[in-house]
This record gives sequence, C-alpha cells and structure tokens, in this order.
Amino acid sequence: EKGGYEHFMLKEIFEQPRSILDSMRGRMIAESNHLMMAGIREFENKFANANRIIIVACGTSWHAGLVAEYLIEDLARIPVEVEYASEFRYRNPIINEKDIVIAISQSGETADTLAALELAKSKGATIFGICNVVGSSIARATDAGAYTHAGPEIGVASTKAFTAQVTVLTLISMIIGSKRGTLETTKLHELMAELENIPAKVEQALKLNDQIVRIAEQYKDATNFLYLGRGYNFPVALEGALKLKEISYIHAEGYPAAEMKHGPIALIDEMMPVVVIATKDSSYEKVVSNVQEVKARKGKIIAVVTEGDTTIPAMADHVIEIPETSEHLMPLLSVIPLQLLSYHIAVMRGCNVDQPRNLAKSVTVE
Ligand code: M6R
Repeated sequence: EKGGYEHFMLKEIFEQPRSILDSMRGRMIAESNHLMMAGIREFENKFANANRIIIVACGTSWHAGLVAEYLIEDLARIPVEVEYASEFRYRNPIINEKDIVIAISQSGETADTLAALELAKSKGATIFGICNVVGSSIARATDAGAYTHAGPEIGVASTKAFTAQVTVLTLISMIIGSKRGTLETTKLHELMAELENIPAKVEQALKLNDQIVRIAEQYKDATNFLYLGRGYNFPVALEGALKLKEISYIHAEGYPAAEMKHGPIALIDEMMPVVVIATKDSSYEKVVSNVQEVKARKGKIIAVVTEGDTTIPAMADHVIEIPETSEHLMPLLSVIPLQLLSYHIAVMRGCNVDQPRNLAKSVTVE
C-alpha cells in the first residue's frame, strides 16, 4: 500500500508530479488555450465582481491560502484576506453578500473551517470549497467548489494536498484574472504553458533527495531552525517550518525574511540553521541582503536557489538548486526540498513520521 516506500509521507511527496497533473487535468490545456473549471463556471461573474475574497483554513491549507492571496491580488486584482478559521469564526467578522469566502481543506472535515464557512453563509456570502476528500462535510456545505484530486493523503503531514491546493488556486486566479481583464492574454498563455511544465520540474526537484539526505544528516540534532522567504516564497517558509516541527519535533519558525531584523535575528548564532528560499524572482536582491545579515552572525545557511545562481551559493553553507519557473508558480517547486528535508530529519531522529505524536489527520474538534 505504500508502493515500496518506507512511509506514506515519502510516497506522497514522490507522487506530486502525478497529483499536480491530476489537479489540473481537464481544466487546462495550454496548447489550445483551454482553461475551464466546472466548479466555478456558474460563479465566474460573482467571482469577477466580488468586492473581496476571504480565505479560511487551518495549518498547511492556510499556507496554501496565503499563496493564493499573492496570486489573486496580483493576477485578478481583488483584495484577499486569509484568515485562520478558528479566529475568524469567533471575531464577529464583517461579511456581506458581495464577499466570496473560500474554505481550503484537505480532509473537508476540519471543525473550525466548517464552522467559519457556515458563519459566512449565514451572513449571505457566497461560499466556495477547495477540498481533497470527495463528499466531505465542507464540500457538501458549500455553494460550489473544486476538488483538488490529489488522491488519498494518509500521512498526517500534508504534502501532495498542499501542491494540489496551490495548483487549483492558480487556475482559479488565472480564470478570474482573464475574466476581469486584469491578466493579459499573453501573460495568461505564458503562465498556462509554464504551469503545464511544473510536473516535470517537480520530478526534477525530487532528484535532490540524496543530496537532502546528506544535509539532513548534518542538522538532525539541531534544536531550532529558522525558515525565511519573501513574496511567493514567504508562505513556503511557513510551510517548511510547520513540516519540520510537526514530524521531527524540532522547534522551527518561518518568517518573511525582512521581519528578521525586528526580532528573530537575535536568535542567530553558529548553532542556528537557517533555511532560506532565495529563488530568482522580484525579491531576489532583497533576499541576498538577508542572507548576508545571517552570515554576518555566523548562522548556517541552507539555501534553495534557482539553477545556475552563483551569488547565493558563494555565501551559503549548503545549496539546493531547483528549476527555474515563473515566481507565481515557484511555491510548487520550492516546497519540495523542504518536505524532503523535514522527512529525512524526522526519520533520522526515529520519529513516527506518518503519525506524529499528539496529532490527528483531521481535526474534527475545535
Ligand atoms: O484537512 P485540512 O486541510 O482542513 O487540515 C488542516 C490542518 O489540520 C492540516 O493542514 C495540518 O496542519 C497538517 N498536519 C499539516 O501538515
């Protein structure tokens, strides 16, 4: 059942070229400029005219929501708020009929996310679900939605569900952006073609596995980790840190790289591994400065960079090269080495990777 892999988590990480493809299957064919999602077709106008989109989710799904905030605001120019479902539901939030509330949930059973959605529905908002489990409570409670089609995810740590969520949210952003005219046709076609290349590039990123095993060996006994990223890679930093803490029980924090100087920089010394996602994108130069700040304090840099980069490798202690892509799609690639790093560290520490202590696959109580 684990398909020859030692753990479900590893199997699910390696399934991603396929699960990402499944999440776009029938929805996008770049060559013929076909972009269509049954789930949003009848709501396209509503989406295009929304005053605001509110995303509610928990954990890794909340991180996918953060990626969507960058995507939707950039491509479709609609204001987006990303909310922890548990906070949103108890805050007396301001919601009205012109709002669209998107719930993101792998299981479709997360109690707080379901309750947040029901609250939004009672205030007249249009509610939309992005779930992996077909027929789940959230999928049934929504006006419309899109399944992620990642297949069953058994490992408690979410991996392929995250990349499928991000893929579906990318498609939705492109659909709304083209409907609203905020995304030019040439740019749209470029992105579609690039998205179609993502499964092959994920496959390439998975070849980093052996290299990541060696990095894991060096840092498996660390007691703290910092993860830094900016722009589209900021949510990936949060996700990398969550993955590490939940399965290896090492304390880890994710930060937008520029926030470091507002506090966390005090933690940095020669004992602190800092994972920096520093791919070639619009914030690259800024991240270079952040890496210099860490190096000046003797932190150990594990850098995820775009293939062929020479600037960051000159400063970093370890370099993980991933293929080039549009910054809009980068989270789909940059998260892969971080999933692998957390997996191998957890295995080396003797942790129960698929069923970490104190955690359940779906959190059906608040
Ligand atoms: O099923 P959901 O997507 O609603 O679950 C949300 C979180 O409980 C989940 O992502 C959790 O954070 C994972 N264990 C992270 O790997």
